Amino acid sequence: MTVVLAPRGKSRYDTGHPWVYKSDIARLPESAGIDDVQDIRGNHLGWAAVNPLSEITVRFLSKGSVRPNILQRLERAIEFRRFLHINGDSFRVVHSDADGLPGLTIDKYGDYLVMQQNCAALEPMLSDILRVLKREYKLRGILGRFDAKARALEGLDSKVEVLYGEVPEWIDAHEAEIVYRVDPWGGQKTGAFLDQRDNRAALSEVAFGRALDIFSYHASFGLHLAKVCDSVECIDSSAAALERAEENAQLNNLSNMIFTEANAFDWLHAKDTKERYHTISLDPPALAKARRDLDGAYRAYKELNLRCLKLLEPGGFLGTASCSFHVSEADFYTMLEDAAADAGRMVRILERRSQAACHPEVLNFPESRYLKYALLQVM
Ligand SMILES: C[S@@+](CC[C@H](N)C(=O)[O-])C[C@H]1O[C@@H](n2cnc3c(N)ncnc32)[C@H](O)[C@@H]1O
Repeated sequence: MTVVLAPRGKSRYDTGHPWVYKSDIARLPESAGIDDVQDIRGNHLGWAAVNPLSEITVRFLSKGSVRPNILQRLERAIEFRRFLHINGDSFRVVHSDADGLPGLTIDKYGDYLVMQQNCAALEPMLSDILRVLKREYKLRGILGRFDAKARALEGLDSKVEVLYGEVPEWIDAHEAEIVYRVDPWGGQKTGAFLDQRDNRAALSEVAFGRALDIFSYHASFGLHLAKVCDSVECIDSSAAALERAEENAQLNNLSNMIFTEANAFDWLHAKDTKERYHTISLDPPALAKARRDLDGAYRAYKELNLRCLKLLEPGGFLGTASCSFHVSEADFYTMLEDAAADAGRMVRILERRSQAACHPEVLNFPESRYLKYALLQVM
């Protein structure tokens, strides 16, 4: 089938961005597939994963004349992670459009893979994709977390199913010196926040003394901190996540961690103004889910960061994140500037960081850069 872009779709194509919306398409195919794309004059523009049901109708795979080879892209994604020499057995293997594989996310935890597949055009290739994965990795099981809302938008059914071997209730994931338990069946994302793996290593390199892990989930930051700090208090509003955090502490023989179920905003607000810490990890959920949330999110991020900066002793470190795509890097650092000013603290930026290297960022696809992470030191 051939898909024809309207002039506005062609302009978008010219910017280099891989997505074209339904309203910018002159002729749609009848069903999803990998199709040839043309402009209204009949010039070939490239190949795309196309779905007439989806608002993001065209996702360009290539601008060349040769039909792209999806399995070869998968092999390249796997090769790229080998090149990264990742310390541990748990990392992202495929990062969707940023690996040229729209809608496909694959995370590796130990000997297991957890997959999300939200692109109707790739759905018929699932068994070929599994064949490559089984050939490239020594695996015990592959789980399909095919329950994301994005599947409904693509007209795909929702299910969670074992695609290969057996997948247990819990998987032990190794990250540098730490092991933590992942819930592949029901945990957030595919079970863990692998995008912070490099930042966890960066913060634990400087961490010391009395530490906090705020928005800890199952304590992935906290476990790393507990290896090098005197004590770590983990704060999260999810009792289930904290129960797992406690199990993780035992798994790592760490007895210097405590776990507090609380709303982090209330907890920080109620904190004694004289109390001090040496290291704080602050990793809130996305506070701006949409552009219209930006003002409220700015205030919320500032409030959290301001309170954390006030809690730090001079010389102490704050590792602070925003995973909201809509909060730009510039806004994130302006917010931190405001927070430092209002906290009355001089604050040094040690590092401006982003998501882990196994979650690559592609210049032509700004959506691939979503995580902002600053490593700060109170002077
Ligand atoms: C981005 S995740 C944290 C990931 C974690 N730091 C890691 O590296 O694995 C955000 C966490 O914030 C928790 N959360 C959401 N709203 C909260 C609130 N108001 N107070 C405390 N925790 C909250 C969620 O339960 C979730 O575990």
